[in-house]
Amino acid sequence: MTKSLDDFITIEEETKVDTTRKIRVGIIGTGGIAKAHLLSYLQQPDVEIVAGADIISGKAKAFFEEHGVENVKCDYASHKEMLDDESLHLDAVSVCTYNCQHAEPTIYALKKGVHVLLEKPFTVTAEEAVEVMRAEKQSGKILTIGFQPRFDENMKKVREIVQSGVLGKVYYVQTGGGRRRGIPVSKGTTFIEKETAGIGALGDIGCYSLDMVLNAIGYPKPLTVSGYKSAYFGTDPHYKSYVKSGHPEYAEKFGVDDFAAAFIRLEGDVVLDFRISWAMNMDTPGDTILLGTKGGLRIPSTECWNGASFGQMTLYGEVCGEQMEAKVPLIENKGGFGNLFNLKIRSFLDAIKNGTEAPVPTSQILYNQLILDAIARSAELGEEVKIEIPTV
Ligand SMILES: NC(=O)c1ccc[n+]([C@@H]2O[C@H](COP(=O)([O-])OP(=O)(O)OC[C@H]3O[C@@H](n4cnc5c(N)ncnc54)[C@H](O)[C@@H]3O)[C@@H](O)[C@H]2O)c1
Repeated sequence: MTKSLDDFITIEEETKVDTTRKIRVGIIGTGGIAKAHLLSYLQQPDVEIVAGADIISGKAKAFFEEHGVENVKCDYASHKEMLDDESLHLDAVSVCTYNCQHAEPTIYALKKGVHVLLEKPFTVTAEEAVEVMRAEKQSGKILTIGFQPRFDENMKKVREIVQSGVLGKVYYVQTGGGRRRGIPVSKGTTFIEKETAGIGALGDIGCYSLDMVLNAIGYPKPLTVSGYKSAYFGTDPHYKSYVKSGHPEYAEKFGVDDFAAAFIRLEGDVVLDFRISWAMNMDTPGDTILLGTKGGLRIPSTECWNGASFGQMTLYGEVCGEQMEAKVPLIENKGGFGNLFNLKIRSFLDAIKNGTEAPVPTSQILYNQLILDAIARSAELGEEVKIEIPTV
């Protein structure tokens, strides 16, 4: 009988997973992305979803009912009440709250001895990231950050190419991306208000673009940043999707950035030229390029946060004095974008069970966060800022 690739993945995973003890999981924040977490957990044979919490009364209950998931305790007024409930015997939580509520529930969970899968961006500020990492260190528990594109085969290939040495010494990187009109307000204002989001396009999708290239070149220490951010579209009551949805008042609520750019110096004589957009008068702010002494790599402008929407990469080099170019074959991801999410969840569960390192460790993402933080700081000051690497 012919099997689809999805069937193959499920069968392969099932035979590998030890189901003798179920991992007891809770979900903190039952908004948009919690659905992807829930659906992925439901596919894991060694997971029992035991609890959920949302600060909006009744939201968690409605969430589990909508997805037909029964026997989940969810009558909690906050993440604290849920984590304080010892009858749950929680092993792990997904923190799916808006950005300004990433640090607090994560720290609380770690202090309670619970493993955490925290959605991206890591936090809003560098100070929060450091506090979270201190709690992580004290707890000895797994804390992984929710960057599912890390599991995209093409993303892995970018890193493999750079790490193979074929580019020689990489000295210049240009990255970024974004949308022509794509301020995320289809489900309300949690992504655009200062009190809930804290950071706009810069953190929301900028963190992914930075991770794509920083992970490839080995996350060198960031040194200085000259940053810029603006909010010309978000604060305009005539912005089309505000008008179309009948919410011109969103313009007044808009308290974050919708565009950011920066010039970042990294340890080892590397510079990174970066820009990111939720809204702009341009189709794309350009391809991602990595320039090295022996070769160059062009990654076509991509919504890298979706992983699977990668275009074909080109490798540039010189052979026997001749300039050469080669297309890097695109690799099909088994199961597409949805499966990247499953792989992110699975990698978290496997780290818990095997006592291995967090799949997307805070030690790396701290540098990502320090850069985001420095871009915001530099933009506000109107001058270049230095990055001090904090001790955790
Ligand atoms: N990995 C991805 O592909 C991806 C995609 C979308 C969003 N995200 C990230 O996920 C996070 C959430 O996004 P969303 O679209 O689900 O937002 P959302 O606003 O739809 O949902 C967040 C929910 O968290 C709840 N909440 C806030 N603080 C809480 C607390 N202390 N305890 C319990 N509940 C609390 C809110 O009431 C809300 O229901 C964001 O940080 C976002 O960047 C990741």
